[in-house]
Amino acid sequence: MDLHDFDDVAENYDLYLEEMYRSEDNHAGFLDFYLEFAREYGKDGVIDIACGTGAVLLYLAQHGILADGTDLSEAMCRVANEKAKREGFDLHIFPANMTDFRSDRKYSCAIIARSGFMHLITPELQRAALLNIRDHLVEGGMLTFNTFDPYPALQAQQMKTKDTDASFRLEYVNKDRKREKIYNAISYDPHTQIMSGHWKFETLDENGNVTEERVRPLKMRQTYRQEMRYLLELTGYEIVNVYGGYCKEPGDRSAKNVIWCVRKK
Ligand SMILES: C[S@@+](CC[C@H](N)C(=O)[O-])C[C@H]1O[C@@H](n2cnc3c(N)ncnc32)[C@H](O)[C@@H]1O
Repeated sequence: MDLHDFDDVAENYDLYLEEMYRSEDNHAGFLDFYLEFAREYGKDGVIDIACGTGAVLLYLAQHGILADGTDLSEAMCRVANEKAKREGFDLHIFPANMTDFRSDRKYSCAIIARSGFMHLITPELQRAALLNIRDHLVEGGMLTFNTFDPYPALQAQQMKTKDTDASFRLEYVNKDRKREKIYNAISYDPHTQIMSGHWKFETLDENGNVTEERVRPLKMRQTYRQEMRYLLELTGYEIVNVYGGYCKEPGDRSAKNVIWCVRKK
């Protein structure tokens, strides 16, 4: 099980992400980037892969695009489905692995938003997902996903990090209206390019005493740009655009967030 498979994470995900964006990185332009992408390429259907609790799915629906959604985690799909129903949208959201999901239709636009692709922790899984998604795209269909540019100074630091080195990340109010503190420790293995995260959630009482502690794992793989270029070539895609952020910042230099927009060849 990984972070997003846990009910407690799925049910609190929107709440702590909102705080994370307020205090750390506001992901400026995040939702509108995907709305614009879906408007431009989605005339024959859109699928949001690794849709999580449906941040992008719901935003698209609110703007008239009824996309399908899929996510490995049943818990995340359940939350996304509940949100869609609450807002009166009849969306097809189903649990599946992006490496082998099956849909009875094809799409002209596939979106993997907010680092979903980085959860594929081997080149074999990345290749399987790209091929499977390609099978579900119409000719010339478009896919967008993002990676983080590996950053040597941070890698070196994370190579020394132990699971117990958790540092404070944020505090938020959970679904039960209790204060919760989140800490995490992220270590890096240069041989596999995998970052292993240990996310610790501490629930507090009204006096600030810890009443519960949960530790949840999260693994993500770093991918070098050249590696990705070869992988895309191998799996039958041409690169249309590479951006350095959601506001379409130039992607030609090292960027924390690299957004790939690729077309099925
Ligand atoms: C960081 S969350 C992003 C969720 C959503 N796209 C968003 O923007 O809020 C990553 C999601 O990827 C999903 N995921 C991880 N591995 C997956 C896989 N192999 N196939 C499908 N979904 C996967 C997780 O369950 C999680 O919901």
